[in-house]
Amino acid sequence: MTASLDQLRRCHVGVDLGAARTRVFVKGAGLVVDEPSVAAINTRTGSLIAVGEFAERMTGRTPSYIRVVRPVSGGTVVDIDMAQRMLSHLLDDKLRRTLRRKPRLRAAACTPHDADPLAQRATTETLIGLGARRVELVDTLIAAAVGCGLPVERPEATMILVCGAATTQVAVLSMGAIVTAVRIPVGGDAIDHAIVQLLRHQHELMLPSQSVRPLQLALSGNGLTARGPESTEIHGRDVATGLARSVQVRTASVREAIHTPLTTVLDGIGKVLRDCPPDLVADLADRGIMMVGGSALLPGLDQMLRDATGMPVHIAERPDVCSVLGLGAMLEGCIQPMQLDLLGS
Ligand SMILES: Nc1ncnc2c1ncn2[C@@H]1O[C@H](COP(=O)(O)OP(=O)(O)OP(=O)(O)O)[C@@H](O)[C@H]1O
Ligand SMILES: [Mg+2]
Repeated sequence: MTASLDQLRRCHVGVDLGAARTRVFVKGAGLVVDEPSVAAINTRTGSLIAVGEFAERMTGRTPSYIRVVRPVSGGTVVDIDMAQRMLSHLLDDKLRRTLRRKPRLRAAACTPHDADPLAQRATTETLIGLGARRVELVDTLIAAAVGCGLPVERPEATMILVCGAATTQVAVLSMGAIVTAVRIPVGGDAIDHAIVQLLRHQHELMLPSQSVRPLQLALSGNGLTARGPESTEIHGRDVATGLARSVQVRTASVREAIHTPLTTVLDGIGKVLRDCPPDLVADLADRGIMMVGGSALLPGLDQMLRDATGMPVHIAERPDVCSVLGLGAMLEGCIQPMQLDLLGS
C-alpha cells in the first residue's frame, strides 16, 4: 500500500486523520494543524459550529440541538462528508486558498496497518474533498518509524509500537519494509474506558467525559508503577443521587483496571516477536522497542513494558506527532532510499 518515496516527494500536503487528533503537514510550512478530530454541528440547520479544540470542549455541555461528532472512529473515516468539512475548517483561510489555487494538488495520508480497501477509499475521498487530485497512502507504521528517526532502511531490525487512541500497532521493520506486524483494537480510549468503569463500579462515581486525562496526569511520574503516589482525589457525580462528590482513588486499583487492555497489547508484542525471524529478534534484544503515539505518554507505561518484555523500551522525542512528521520528512525529500549495488552488473 505504501507509496514510493518518489511519489511522496511530489505531494504538497500530508494528513494524519486519527481517531483522537487530526494533524496536517504542509510542505514548506511544517506542522500546521494538530487538533482533536471533533466537529460540532447544529442539527436544525446542518451547519458546522466549531471544529477541533473548541468543539471538543463542548462535549457533554451542549443544548440538544448541537451535536458533537467524531468523523474518525477506530482509525477509519466513518463520515466522509463531515471529515472533509472538519479538515477544511481546521486549515486557516490563507492556507486553504493556497491549496485550492494549486491545480494539481497532491496529498499524502497515513492509514493504519492492514486498513481494508474501504477504509483506504474513505481516507482518499476525504482528501479529494480538500481539493487533492491525487492521494498517496502510507502505512502509519512506516511514517511513524521515519518520524522518530529509526534507521528503517538498514538491514537490521527495529521494533515500533504505535499507541494511538483507538488502536495499537506493533511492527518489526527492516530494510525499509514491515517484516511482521499486528494491529490491536485497543488504545488510549480503551484505557480511559477502563478507568471510567472502575470509578463507576467501585466508587459509584460518574466522571465528566474530559476528566480521565487529569486522572492519568495525577498519576504522573511513576504513576502506574509501584513507586507512584498512593492515591489521588477525583471529583465526579454520584451515580445514585446525582450530586457532586469526590473520592480518593487508589493508584493500585487504577493499575489493576487498565491491566486487561495492557495485557492485550503485550499479547500483540509477543505475537510479533514469535513471527519474526531469529536474526532480527537478536537485533531487537539490543535495540529494544520504540514507543510512539499519544498513549505512549501514559505515565509508567514504558516501565510496565520493560518489566513485561525484559527489553529496552524508549519513548520517541515527540511521540504524538511522529507519524505526521515522518510523512512530512518524506514529502520534503529528507529520506533517501537505500541504494542496493547490483553485484556483477
Ligand atoms: N499525556 C498523556 N497521557 C496519557 N495519555 C495521553 C496523553 N496524551 C495523549 N494521550 C492519549 O493518547 C491518545 C491519542 O493519541 P494519538 O494522538 O496518537 O491518537 P490518534 O492518532 O488520533 O489515534 P489513532 O492513531 O488510534 O487513530 C488518546 O487516547 C489520549 O488519551
Ligand atoms: Mg495515530
